[in-house]
Amino acid sequence: MKDRIAKIEKDAKEALNKIVDRQTLNEIKIKYLGRKSELSDIFKEMATLAKEEKPVIGSLVNKARNNIEEIIRQKEAEIEKQELEMKLENEKIDITLPGTKVKKGSKHPVNSVIEEIEDLFVSMGYTVESGPELETDRFCFELLNLPEGHPARDMQDSFYITDEYLLRTQTSAVQARTMLANKDKTPIRMICPGKTYRREDDATHSHQFTQAEGLVIDENISLADLKGTLEIFAKRIIGENSKLRFRPSYFPFTEPSYEVDVTCFKCGGKGCNLCKQTGWIEVLGSGMVHPNVLRMCGYDPEKYSGFAFGVGLERIAMFKYGIPDMRYLYANDIRFLSQF
Ligand code: DAH
Repeated sequence: MKDRIAKIEKDAKEALNKIVDRQTLNEIKIKYLGRKSELSDIFKEMATLAKEEKPVIGSLVNKARNNIEEIIRQKEAEIEKQELEMKLENEKIDITLPGTKVKKGSKHPVNSVIEEIEDLFVSMGYTVESGPELETDRFCFELLNLPEGHPARDMQDSFYITDEYLLRTQTSAVQARTMLANKDKTPIRMICPGKTYRREDDATHSHQFTQAEGLVIDENISLADLKGTLEIFAKRIIGENSKLRFRPSYFPFTEPSYEVDVTCFKCGGKGCNLCKQTGWIEVLGSGMVHPNVLRMCGYDPEKYSGFAFGVGLERIAMFKYGIPDMRYLYANDIRFLSQF
């Protein structure tokens, strides 16, 4: 019996040594340790042994069992490790492979102009304000000295949503908002870039466009301040050699009012097809804030005066970047946009 036990152990060790997979390991486990294994048979046969032999053989069987169990445990650990290594190997990510490129967009030319204007005016102590695009008649017109029925309303065909609400036709609405919001009636220096909307449907106009508004209110503000400020604006934003020309005009919220032309950036003022041979291109509207507007917005016109201007940013972007057609700015064509 001793020999049989030793042989079983030896066989089991040999069989286990060759094993590389989990399934054979399980089969061997059943063969050598299961209920129908030879070691179980020996246990049963022990009943026939002499009394003093029983503990000796019993302990040998147990020892053999323990030894085989131990080897199986080691094998199991070995196989687990191998499996894990195989998994790691198979699921390895090759980080040296070139990745899929994330395409970076570029700044829209109108946004570039907005950022430049903001930088310039912030450097001169202005704040950057904003207002709602869905505006009330009161801010868009009434507080700007354009009461209901005023003929100048006809110049701005509007998208009315209700009798009271419309898509703002001009960033000038933010002038009134800023003045009214300033409860202490302290001086104001602000610009407001933003979207504006009008009912336009011809080839050179878009129903949505972008303006920047400027407003300065303080004591002793004069036309000289407006001129100086706009000159800096033209030189910095449009071109160092730009000259300005002020033409008398009419806006209900300014008195006096001016339309401002800048020397043609294409021909430098000599005359070409862009400026229709005049040498000048109109870029903005401006003027001294009308006393009625000051009064309606809570500023005493005897004490305060101010200037304001409004500039169309699509035109500025077209000048700056030599864009021949305004519609390119909104066609969303990647071939156009990726050039900036
Ligand atoms: N809001 C005017 C427009 O859209 C432009 C304008 C003119 C703005 C004169 C002003 C201004 O602030 O003083 O046509």
